[in-house]
Amino acid sequence: MNDLDSQRLSGSLKLRGYRRVDDERKADLILLNTCSIREKAENKVYSRLGELRELKRDNVQIGVCGCVAQQEGERILARAPWVDFVMGPGNVGYLEQVLAGGKTIAIDFPEDRRYDYLTVDRPSATKAQVTIIEGCNKNCTFCIVPTTRGREVSRAFEDVLDEVRAAVASGRVEIELLGQTVNAYRCPASGRDFGALLSAVAEIEHVRRLRFMTSHPAEVNDSMIAAMRDHPNISRYLHLPVQSGSSKILRRMKRLYTREKYVEIIGRIRAAIPEIHFSTDIIVGFPGETEEDFQESLRLIEEVQYGSLFAFKYSPRPGTPAPRIGPPVDDDVATERLTRLFELHERIKQQRLQSYRGRILPVLVEGPSKHDPAMLSGRTDDNFVVNFVADPATPLGSMLGVRIDQAQHHTLRGEAVA
Ligand code: 5AD
Repeated sequence: MNDLDSQRLSGSLKLRGYRRVDDERKADLILLNTCSIREKAENKVYSRLGELRELKRDNVQIGVCGCVAQQEGERILARAPWVDFVMGPGNVGYLEQVLAGGKTIAIDFPEDRRYDYLTVDRPSATKAQVTIIEGCNKNCTFCIVPTTRGREVSRAFEDVLDEVRAAVASGRVEIELLGQTVNAYRCPASGRDFGALLSAVAEIEHVRRLRFMTSHPAEVNDSMIAAMRDHPNISRYLHLPVQSGSSKILRRMKRLYTREKYVEIIGRIRAAIPEIHFSTDIIVGFPGETEEDFQESLRLIEEVQYGSLFAFKYSPRPGTPAPRIGPPVDDDVATERLTRLFELHERIKQQRLQSYRGRILPVLVEGPSKHDPAMLSGRTDDNFVVNFVADPATPLGSMLGVRIDQAQHHTLRGEAVA
């Protein structure tokens, strides 16, 4: 979502006659888009601001955007007075006013979010990200997002469909719907839910592939599962963050489900869509996490057989209740748990990747491969990256059959078949 905010800011600037320069020393406007999900991401901001101090001139403006801007507000101006303005995620649609000098500290959440989708500066010729809901109404005790992105606001159903049609008309045949809790979507006017929106988007002509991020387990319902089952152009991939395999920790995190409930949801989805690829997020070292709690996370990874996984050491965030909930876990212990977790997952992932060898899979062509520009790159229906040999004149956005001959670290390798 941060990425899309950058695309929106860039698009809005281009409309006003700005153009991108390759060297920040040549810029007369520098925007830092920031993340505060963990402390490491946040620390980067102040060190980058230190470097940018050298570039500050009367005719050079420096702005801090994103969640660190939201969280720190005036403190950024106090610590780095060479910054011209601070602008939170709720104000992305209001860049013009901020640049005009009307708002030095723009950290409110305007009622009208102003989503000017026609000007988004999309870096990909084949793919468009589309926000359907912003903010989060959950209260996970570790998470800063409800503070930095505010309460949930869903966009109107028809507005989303219009944006998708415009994106498809510009050749973006892959659509990714975005929200902090994407499956909590509800049309403010009609009450139609996420499953209804998924189906409607999937049925728009020329939408070859539809993805979405990030789903909350407690918001998974039958309408969402049926939409995925009934539309072959919806990716057979679901990112479903579990955060921990221990019901005790899940309760302390206020995740609104137990381990058993989560496993049951996974089972329901698998029964409808057997080939689905699940991925997840896991936090290790949450306050009070014992070795036994951690082992439950490991057992869950075995049980679900996630194809992909993102794991993080718990990082205390300002204003969140988690640090008072249990004793901190020693940093060395957390580091060692993270290592064990990745080792286990590596084996599971390799098994899954190896199982694709010899099969012919439909791949949506995205562009030249990053590692070998003589090859093309794309993704399978279930969201694995495939680098493959094919006619270099293959149009981007087309769907090709690719015979998989090799599984690599995170990706597959193959050759297009006629
Ligand atoms: N510490 C560590 N990881 C966190 N995440 C969110 N907040 C924290 C935190 N305080 C992780 C969660 C979430 C992902 C985007 O970042 O796993 O799903």
